[in-house]
Amino acid sequence: MLDDKGFDSWAYEYDANVAETDAKGAYPFAGYAAALDRIASLALENGPCDVLDAGFGTGVLAKRLYDAGCRVFGQDYSKTMIAIAQEKMPNALLCFGDLDEGLAQPLQGRQYDRILATYALHHFTTERKVRLLKRLQECLKPDGKILIGDIAFADEADQAACRARFASDWDEDEIYLIYDEIKEIFPGMTYEKISHCCGLFTLSR
Ligand SMILES: C[S@@+](CC[C@H](N)C(=O)[O-])C[C@H]1O[C@@H](n2cnc3c(N)ncnc32)[C@H](O)[C@@H]1O
Repeated sequence: MLDDKGFDSWAYEYDANVAETDAKGAYPFAGYAAALDRIASLALENGPCDVLDAGFGTGVLAKRLYDAGCRVFGQDYSKTMIAIAQEKMPNALLCFGDLDEGLAQPLQGRQYDRILATYALHHFTTERKVRLLKRLQECLKPDGKILIGDIAFADEADQAACRARFASDWDEDEIYLIYDEIKEIFPGMTYEKISHCCGLFTLSR
């Protein structure tokens, strides 16, 4: 499992690696561009708004929303990722900090229209994901939404099929969202399959 230093080393190759795997339709990034397109349109459905991106990486998604007029806030624990994203979005409030420990101080006490988490949650155990999502839910405006795009599956059988197909590349350290499991904890959560290994979840307050 990558830690903050792992993400620092990957930062400059990240966008190209992801695009290449997505273009091949291969695990783990098949569906990445489609998921980001869908999330960008859901984030902008009521026009420019206040967006918090949890684990924004190089800022690929956040930059689209920034350019569309959103106020962009974010937190990440890779200093290199933050430097790359901040250069693209000079007026965004991008904070350093481990999401496991909650939001960085400048991001607290605000409410957001949209909270995004793309390809960041599979680094968290299920227990930590749930704790983070509950904390983030409290930071939503009354009609706000959390939008999650990640390596994800409808159920265990769906995940098993992907693991069998991509056995040599499968990352046993990562913990993927499985809709069947998570909907027990968040009954209002919706799920949309984007590709054989990518799903989109929405969660309201
Ligand atoms: C695979 S990248 C995804 C980046 C971007 N959201 C995207 O869709 O391309 C995961 C990002 O989440 C960040 N991240 C992972 N775990 C984190 C944690 N516990 N706290 C803060 N950031 C974290 C990493 O530093 C990295 O920038």
